[in-house]
Amino acid sequence: MCIRDRSMIVRNRDVDSKPYENIMFKPRPGHADYAARIKYGGYNDPRGGGRFSGRITVAYVMAGAVAKKILSLIGVEVLAHAVQIGSVRVEGEVPYDEVRRNVYMNPARCAVPELAQRMVEEILSAAGEGDSVGGVVEGIALNVPAGLGEPVFDSLDADIAKMLFNIPAVKGVEFGAGFRIASMKGSEANDQYAIRDGKIVTLTNNAGGIIGGISNGMPIKVRVAFKPTPSISKRQRTINLEKMAEEEIQVAGRHDPCIVPRAVPVVEACLAFTIADHALRAGRIPRVIKSL
Ligand SMILES: Cc1cc2nc3c(=O)[nH]c(=O)nc-3n(C[C@H](O)[C@H](O)[C@H](O)COP(=O)(O)O)c2cc1C
Repeated sequence: MCIRDRSMIVRNRDVDSKPYENIMFKPRPGHADYAARIKYGGYNDPRGGGRFSGRITVAYVMAGAVAKKILSLIGVEVLAHAVQIGSVRVEGEVPYDEVRRNVYMNPARCAVPELAQRMVEEILSAAGEGDSVGGVVEGIALNVPAGLGEPVFDSLDADIAKMLFNIPAVKGVEFGAGFRIASMKGSEANDQYAIRDGKIVTLTNNAGGIIGGISNGMPIKVRVAFKPTPSISKRQRTINLEKMAEEEIQVAGRHDPCIVPRAVPVVEACLAFTIADHALRAGRIPRVIKSL
């Protein structure tokens, strides 16, 4: 990556569009090929998935790096880690220090080293069968001031979820207790208030740090479900759009058998710049930071 003047550029010096020639008219099941072709009347770029490739997320990570610097001015820290890959799941909360320390120490981007190894095995086993696995990334934002989030359409959770759904392969987003809250009683779900060290806190964090679309000062916790990588070498059914006939497809090329490890910094970045945007809008961070 090079930073010149006020721009960041990442040059892809490892391009290989060859595997896409054979599947130009054969949409990959699970990928955006067919929908993109219809949307852009055939002018979509099929090489590497074009605009629908996970490559687009490098720009999100670049924006996130800037956002994290801006957020550090008000003490906000953003973390992310893999909490599920395939059937291997992290149960319960992982202490923040372990997330900070462990995530980038293993290829699964998991904060629990013993599980990281099993996650890698699960990925390799799927790859060996020409298949892929999905999983879940947890994003955490600490020291977010209470009061961020704009009525009515720009509530903080709506904006975070919208950005996270803009990451390719994301199929679900949940905050705090998430879908589990639907089966709780009010007395279990409500986060009751308390004062600790002179600060207003809640005793639980089922809301995931956002209530009424506004941050409440508790850690923001969001979990993001990623589907298994669509491009797999297993034989699948598709259509040939040129011949209008049903055919089979076996996708070649360089595809990750699991998106989750690569998506960890992407979730972190998207969470960071959405919160930074709201902190700027709320006047928590000055719009111009400059010493003359
Ligand atoms: C970081 C990242 C890497 C990805 N890598 C691949 C890949 O190697 N092969 C693939 O088929 N899809 C990959 N994807 C997923 C596709 O881009 C995505 O599934 C596709 O655009 C269809 O969109 P949808 O799944 O959001 O509906 C990746 C996504 C991300 C975020």
